[in-house]
Amino acid sequence: MIKNMQAILDLMDRPSTGSGPGEYYLDTLAVLPEYRRRGIGRALLEDGIKRGIAAGYDLITLVVDSNMPDLIRLYESVGFQKAEHRWIFRVDFLRMTYSVKRQNAKL
Ligand SMILES: CC(C)(COP(=O)(O)OP(=O)(O)OC[C@H]1O[C@@H](n2cnc3c(N)ncnc32)[C@H](O)[C@@H]1OP(=O)(O)O)[C@@H](O)C(=O)NCCC(=O)NCCS
Repeated sequence: MIKNMQAILDLMDRPSTGSGPGEYYLDTLAVLPEYRRRGIGRALLEDGIKRGIAAGYDLITLVVDSNMPDLIRLYESVGFQKAEHRWIFRVDFLRMTYSVKRQNAKL
């Protein structure tokens, strides 16, 4: 499991591959089915945010299938906000953004 988690963290650590310049893009959040609903997904997400901040980015982004409201709520619960819709491979994805300045202002 540790090996799998490291592989996922390594994937998440790639800056700005699938998004715009200057964004820390969180790509492909996933947990093996047998380990889901134990808080690992949230922990990976929070770790990704910390890595983006540590790397000096002001904007952290991701895309999520628009038809997954529970997942969208998970992202909102850690500070992401809904941005615009994007059609990727004929699927309606929602781009979400985490502004480091906006979050700091709330503290
Ligand atoms: C999305 C994913 C990474 C979540 O991982 P996880 O370890 O199960 O997430 P957590 O246990 O931290 O869940 C946190 C919250 O997210 C929500 N949530 C997570 N997975 C959910 C699901 N499949 N359906 C509905 N809500 C879900 C719940 O609100 C959950 O809190 P709760 O368990 O207290 O109700 C995992 O389900 C997964 O790998 N899915 C397949 C890949 C995928 O769709 N990735 C998203 C790409 S945008």
